[in-house]
Amino acid sequence: MVKVAVGCDHGGFVLKESVVSTLKLLGAEVVDFGCFDESSVDYPAYGEKVARAVASGECECGVIMCGTGIGISIAANKVKGIRAAVVTNTYMAKLTKNHNNANIIALGGRVITPQEAEEIVKAWFTAEYEGGRHQRRLDMIAKIEEDRQ
Ligand code: RB5
Repeated sequence: MVKVAVGCDHGGFVLKESVVSTLKLLGAEVVDFGCFDESSVDYPAYGEKVARAVASGECECGVIMCGTGIGISIAANKVKGIRAAVVTNTYMAKLTKNHNNANIIALGGRVITPQEAEEIVKAWFTAEYEGGRHQRRLDMIAKIEEDRQ
């Protein structure tokens, strides 16, 4: 069973229930790193928790949510090995798996609806990484990461 890490701030909380139930319907085991209500919290903490769970191998991939998906993705992308993509439609969701092998997607609770989030999660989770020429580019990204350590 694929283990998926999920995390959000108060701005993304509106999407979490739909995201979690969609992942479960797709056969995933969900590890929920919070937050657990709409009280104001700081998105970097939740982006980091999910990113570390994925980078360590505890979880295979993750879904993070904040108001726009942007702040929490910036935080997650600071963790080595993470390719977190902000996604606003199913085309981006599919392509970011096909080409970028995104191991985390970031969604915006103030940008998309819970129903759109379900479709996006489904499109990303069921898509396949294509490898080939794309691997060369991912290796180049990893090299940039090595240089900054
Ligand atoms: C919180 O108000 C908001 O800034 C946050 O959810 C997110 O949109 C940041 O990128």
